[in-house]
Amino acid sequence: MILKIVKYPEPVLSQPGEPVTEFNAELRKLIADMFETTYASQGIGLAAPQVGVSKRLTVIDLSMGKEPKDKLVFINPEIILSEGKQYEEEGCLSFPEIHEKVVRAAKVCIRAQDAHGKWFEMDGAELLARCLQHEIDHLDGMLFIFRMSALKRDLTLRRIRKMQREGTW
Ligand code: NI
Repeated sequence: MILKIVKYPEPVLSQPGEPVTEFNAELRKLIADMFETTYASQGIGLAAPQVGVSKRLTVIDLSMGKEPKDKLVFINPEIILSEGKQYEEEGCLSFPEIHEKVVRAAKVCIRAQDAHGKWFEMDGAELLARCLQHEIDHLDGMLFIFRMSALKRDLTLRRIRKMQREGTW
């Protein structure tokens, strides 16, 4: 089922998500729906708060559904190591049309639980590292506009307000 993606400034996007404690069929259905929603929106990652669910869960698929092995689920994820720096353009499904460069760590190592509650560790570099940091930020109520420079953030917020006035946001 394709879920509705909420847009900024929906309050749920700015709230830290609750830890996931039940690894049941309902959770697996939410994960399947989140992948379907990501593909339908041509995204590469989606966090539960973006579909109005304030929980620490995110899905990532850099292949956008083309490679089954690229379907990644991260529950209660934490960044345990980060190193280096990258400065690349990012977008977010909760900010349609907005693309701006954001500073992120070049590499991260994360610890998370899978859909059955099993803990695992994973390293990510480049796009995967960026995507992991962006999605884990969502679980902390942190949005990518607040990772932009103050100047770019102000311009972006002004653009959003203009679109809101015109009814195109
Ligand atoms: Ni996002």
